[in-house]
Amino acid sequence: MRSDQIRQGRLAGERSGDLEHFLASMDADRWIARADLLVDMAHLLGLSRQGIIDEAPARALMAALLDLYDHGLPEEAFDERFEDVHAGKEAYLIDRVGEDFGGRLHMGRSRNDEVATCIRIRLKEEILALVRSLIDLRVTLLDVAASHTETVMPGFTHLQHAQPTTLAHYLLAYEQAFSRDTARLREAYARVDASPLGSAAFASTGFPLDRAYTTRLLGFARPAPNSMDAVAARDFAIEVLADASICMTSVSRLCEELVLWSTAFVGFVRLDDAYCSSSSIMPQKKNPDVAEIMRAKAGSAAGSLAAAITITKGLPMSYNRDLQELTPHLWRGVEAARQSIPLLAGMLDSAAFDTERMAAEAGRGFSTATELADVLVREYGLPFRTAHRIVGRAVRHGSLDLATLEAAAREAADLSVVDLGITQEKIDAVLDPRHAVAVRGIVGGPAPAVVAAQISEEKERLSRDAAWAEETDSALTNAFEHLILEARRFAA
Ligand code: ARG
Repeated sequence: MRSDQIRQGRLAGERSGDLEHFLASMDADRWIARADLLVDMAHLLGLSRQGIIDEAPARALMAALLDLYDHGLPEEAFDERFEDVHAGKEAYLIDRVGEDFGGRLHMGRSRNDEVATCIRIRLKEEILALVRSLIDLRVTLLDVAASHTETVMPGFTHLQHAQPTTLAHYLLAYEQAFSRDTARLREAYARVDASPLGSAAFASTGFPLDRAYTTRLLGFARPAPNSMDAVAARDFAIEVLADASICMTSVSRLCEELVLWSTAFVGFVRLDDAYCSSSSIMPQKKNPDVAEIMRAKAGSAAGSLAAAITITKGLPMSYNRDLQELTPHLWRGVEAARQSIPLLAGMLDSAAFDTERMAAEAGRGFSTATELADVLVREYGLPFRTAHRIVGRAVRHGSLDLATLEAAAREAADLSVVDLGITQEKIDAVLDPRHAVAVRGIVGGPAPAVVAAQISEEKERLSRDAAWAEETDSALTNAFEHLILEARRFAA
């Protein structure tokens, strides 16, 4: 194949392989190769419709593009001497149909609007895939939660036993986070959904392109309104990276707990063997490697976000080649989430929770002390701060039985009440973890009926998200199918 057709005019000399490799974006360009062909076809249809290109070259080009679309770009198009797939593909087309035809595709276009359009197309597909996997994960969380609304377990603050809750309440906490991640990605999608095509290098073009037409063909909601912003902006990428990164933070926290919970110390969960690895020396080992790698992927995603922001922050308007360095970080961050979320769903779905261990721990560490203090307030008239001090003092003495509680009350010299009025029987009832859970029946609390209501509310939100993903996905698929159909009709 020919050499780089873009350098031949202005620049002289050969470049070393190292230099070519340094400049090339071919690895990341594999992510956008298919999108690039769609962009070419839409641009070509647009050129033809506006009478900018004659029928003969347009048809020859379209036939070649369809062939590439059907059979995939040849490896030569990814040769690093072309710097990127846009130039590699153009060289291939010129080779194939001759320069008189092949040299006309890039009229009114720059690689700057081309690459920005490609990235947005692929990113929309990635967002949809992420949203769909988040929906599956949320379904899993809600399903597991539904069978554990009565499963009491200890809740922690500072990783110390704090108050009893239920496994369902705990799982719903994560479901909330993933529900917000879904909402964030839906909002980001709307901002990604603008077509830069027609912006050319940055100042648009004197060719009378119909941007609305190519926007429609490529399934975008609207053309990007300012051609300079359209090629220079990457905040849409940073935003999605942030969303993926935020999501991965929750994934990582949940994984951290699965690691912790599967230890012999805690023993709350047994992960399926599929999600564990063994040791090359210690034959007994079952290690939660999948959860660990996911926890690390959250770090990688956050690193990608930091890289993208840092690469962008010093750039003057409009396009700068620095932007090429950002794109691999986008795909890496998005991929971390895309790989992790379905695996996490599988890991949770197949996990065996040890509800007896959870129940045994639920009341440990005086985890129902808050409820006892609350009862002294609600039923025996103490100020909360006083009850807090009495119960805290009793815990210091190592027991919450009636005698210790009364001794603790007497010790607090500033206290007018000494006879608490409470009985041992009452104390025993109040210290039962199930009781503490049952009385927390306000909105958001762990009481089983309240959690059941939360589950059905979330299921509704989930089905709205699923409907959005379905609609958006089929609109996009339809647009691409229509574009390919138009292209085939044109080439025929
Ligand atoms: N590979 C480039 C990128 O990813 C495409 C745009 C190149 N534009 C240019 N003026 N060199 O950003």
